[in-house]
Amino acid sequence: MSQRIPVIIDTDMGVDDAYAVMLAFSSPLLKVLGITTSYGNVAVDTSTLNAIKILELLEKRARVAKGASGPLFGKSRNYSNTRGAFLHGKDGLGNVGYTLPDPVHIEVDSDAVSYMAELIEKEETRVTLISLGPLTNIATLLIAYPDIRKRIDGIAMMGGSVYGGNMLPAGEANIVADPEAAQIVLQSGVRIVMCGLESAEKAYFIKDDLEMFRLIGGSVGRFYYDMSRDYLAANEKLTGERRAVIYDSVPVAWLINPAVLRTKPCYVEVDLNGQYTRACTVTDENCTDRRPNTMVAFDLDRDIFVKMHIDAFRRYR
Ligand code: BDR
Ligand code: CA
Repeated sequence: MSQRIPVIIDTDMGVDDAYAVMLAFSSPLLKVLGITTSYGNVAVDTSTLNAIKILELLEKRARVAKGASGPLFGKSRNYSNTRGAFLHGKDGLGNVGYTLPDPVHIEVDSDAVSYMAELIEKEETRVTLISLGPLTNIATLLIAYPDIRKRIDGIAMMGGSVYGGNMLPAGEANIVADPEAAQIVLQSGVRIVMCGLESAEKAYFIKDDLEMFRLIGGSVGRFYYDMSRDYLAANEKLTGERRAVIYDSVPVAWLINPAVLRTKPCYVEVDLNGQYTRACTVTDENCTDRRPNTMVAFDLDRDIFVKMHIDAFRRYR
């Protein structure tokens, strides 16, 4: 087998983040070096606890480092009390996180940014960052360690959109949480794959998919089924569709099998000043006067996506 891709997962651990982490650890193609956490779906202490609990459920040993509790500048547009709690439950894990035992094994580091730098510098090959939440930790890393970008192979990120938002009319939640951080990352020169709403909203499971995970995945499958019940209902209230949208598995799925996405090189930047469009990822699909800085995902093959999760749950039996 060719060399595994070393990755660090940066997450605001909610329901879909938990799927992404499960998928990443199941794959023989990825080597998860560590997990860093931030605010977003829940406050950072809760997302850190959730990360630890999920690792223990999956029986994976990796260090977890706690990161940002708010955006780089200004007041946090924290969605843990609003959209986050509504979708992901008060505990971020579909209101069933309490059913997981209190963690015993996993070490927690208090500084996500220096932990990321340490992992990246230690690794022989260049590391890929998987971004599943606000981009605060990653932007801070790029500012605090300017040379580190040479050691980063790319950033596979769930965030942004081309045609509209979910948190604001033109803003996707991870970008809305910290638009300045997102802009720093997009302008950094590091290779980026932007898995925004165009692909991520097609990354959904219906009740039958969830039932299948429960049947094949042993205690992991059962927990994910339980975790998804309120999430499915909340998604339905929001969109009218009975679908559990698993946004955050998309960048992981792409790393495992790029055929899951249709991508196109584009020039993307974040609108930081718009009265109605602040946090919008403005995407120049034709790169009229700029060179592309981002591979943007425009479509997702749901059959591949679902099959990948079935295979993943089988590995946890
Ligand atoms: C993103 O926001 C969070 O609710 C999800 O975990 C995902 O990362 C979707 O817009
Ligand atoms: Ca997330």
